Amino acid sequence: MGMYSEKVMNHFANPRNVGELPDANGVGEVGNAKCGDIMRMYLKVEDGRIADVKFMTFGCGAAIATSSMATELIKGKSIEDALKLTNKAVVEALDGLPPVKLHCSVLAEQAVKAALADYYTRQGIDPEPILGKLDEHSCASCGGDCGA
Ligand code: FES
Repeated sequence: MGMYSEKVMNHFANPRNVGELPDANGVGEVGNAKCGDIMRMYLKVEDGRIADVKFMTFGCGAAIATSSMATELIKGKSIEDALKLTNKAVVEALDGLPPVKLHCSVLAEQAVKAALADYYTRQGIDPEPILGKLDEHSCASCGGDCGA
């Protein structure tokens, strides 16, 4: 006990915005090659805002908690604000994560970015100048240990 904050436990046990969005106009999927966890993010963008967001995560508890918190942090926000979401902000909003689980939060940030990139692509806009190159997550890049 005590490894996870109350907020992490709460979002793990009771994740917000779980499911699929049939009318999403931005969908992103990212995976962690090492642990095999997968996160899919659905966005419905309307008038430059995240009108709705849902996610599906097949992964560890920290991945579920961070995706849940990420959806809460971007729901109703402008695209510009959603673009600024960092895994650090997600972790802070959850009152922290154990260091060995920090990489799971990277997945949440990347899933939001991948969904926004898909949104831009569908609008005929090249996402790369806006979002930069989206790297595949690798544990080597974040130094995480997937606990696998
Ligand atoms: Fe792989 Fe958490 S995302 S262990």
